[in-house]
Amino acid sequence: MNTNTTIGIHDLSFATGEFVLPHTELAAHTGVEIGKYHVGIGQRSMSIPAADEDIVTMAAAAAAPIVERWGADRIRTVVFATETPIDQSKAAGIYVHSLLNLQPSTRVVELKQACYGGTAGLQFALGLVQRDPSQQVLVIAGDVSRYELDSPGEATQGAAAVAMLVGADPALIRIDPPSGLHTADVMDFWRPNYLSTALVNGQESIAAYLQAVEGVWKDYTEQGGRTLSEFSAFCYHQPFTKMAYKAHRHLFNTTGHDLDEDQMSEMLRRTTAYNEVLGNSYTASMYVALASLLDHSSDLTDQLIGFVSYGSGCVAEFFGGIVVPGYLEHLRTDAHRAIVHRRQPIGHGTYRELHERSLPQDGGHHLTPKQTTGPFRLAGLSGHKRLYETS
Ligand code: HMG
Repeated sequence: MNTNTTIGIHDLSFATGEFVLPHTELAAHTGVEIGKYHVGIGQRSMSIPAADEDIVTMAAAAAAPIVERWGADRIRTVVFATETPIDQSKAAGIYVHSLLNLQPSTRVVELKQACYGGTAGLQFALGLVQRDPSQQVLVIAGDVSRYELDSPGEATQGAAAVAMLVGADPALIRIDPPSGLHTADVMDFWRPNYLSTALVNGQESIAAYLQAVEGVWKDYTEQGGRTLSEFSAFCYHQPFTKMAYKAHRHLFNTTGHDLDEDQMSEMLRRTTAYNEVLGNSYTASMYVALASLLDHSSDLTDQLIGFVSYGSGCVAEFFGGIVVPGYLEHLRTDAHRAIVHRRQPIGHGTYRELHERSLPQDGGHHLTPKQTTGPFRLAGLSGHKRLYETS
């Protein structure tokens, strides 16, 4: 083992669903004052997957450009973090492995701990690369966030998948130890196996998140981490973008640091540009925030970024990463903007139909309607098996 190896995120790409529901359209039907959505929670629209899309099609679409750019020869592990899985036994990543023609000599596994799962995947990947720096790990985090129709959580739904290539001598971000950790047994948000939408105690979940921010920072400091003033930007898990502001204020206030509100707004706005139009993508959310920061900042070379990852239940982690020289050449800003802008707006009726749609459970042969214009689709079901294809 070479202890001087720098390890981190070599490439990052995201994908989302085919459709978009603007919050103006939602507000027209819920009767909620639009200011509550646009300002109160900081959301403008939400991604809605088509009938022939799911976490696998979004994940494959996110990862395909990475495999195309770097090849797959060094990828020996695929970690797929999700809390909206499609199977209780088989890892969703195996379908992605197949759609992308990755080599058979690969380990593929699925991880779960609410929205924190993506960070677990990243941290485990760093360990694998530390053990053998010649290998790369494809870390995927992807979810479709669904709450009950007409519930307070409805306006915070969304969908996206992020793919990250983790390896030695990374082209984007070097991830540095230590991490600050926090776990507490709370029932702020959960989804029993028999439900397709999440249950949530909204205000309790916000309080648990803020408590976790305190917990991870305290542990990070005790582990010998950097001081708060050394960080030039912070990427927070964003269940709705206003949460990043609440968390940031809490971090500064509880540690006795002065906060310049204008500076905070300018910095956080760069991290929320994608999430405010995609909605909550659970495991992917904080990494979409990172993509947003990278794509909306002029030059972050050598700057230290703080990451605050939170997953209900709850587990949280704080860690730091340095943006490496030359990273600007590897960004996917145009592709990311195109992915956001290519979504087709849908009306409230279509949205509700898609929300209530469930796949047939009779084990028969069923084809799904062709709706997606993305690169991969869920063609149907046969004998309880999902059938995927390249579009
Ligand atoms: P609510 O209770 O209906 O909303 O739902 P509210 O009454 O608290 O209002 C929200 C904000 O809008 C308030 O601002 C209002 O003042 C403001 P705040 O006091 O928070 O600063 N407001 C307005 N602003 C401007 N103009 C207006 C107006 N009206 C009101 N006209 C809640 C909010 C977040 C609870 C709900 O959306 C919900 O339950 N969401 C789902 C749960 C959630 O996102 N929790 C966040 C923390 S937990 C987490 O991050 C984990 C998670 O991602 C899951 C996982 O880990 O897997 C969820």
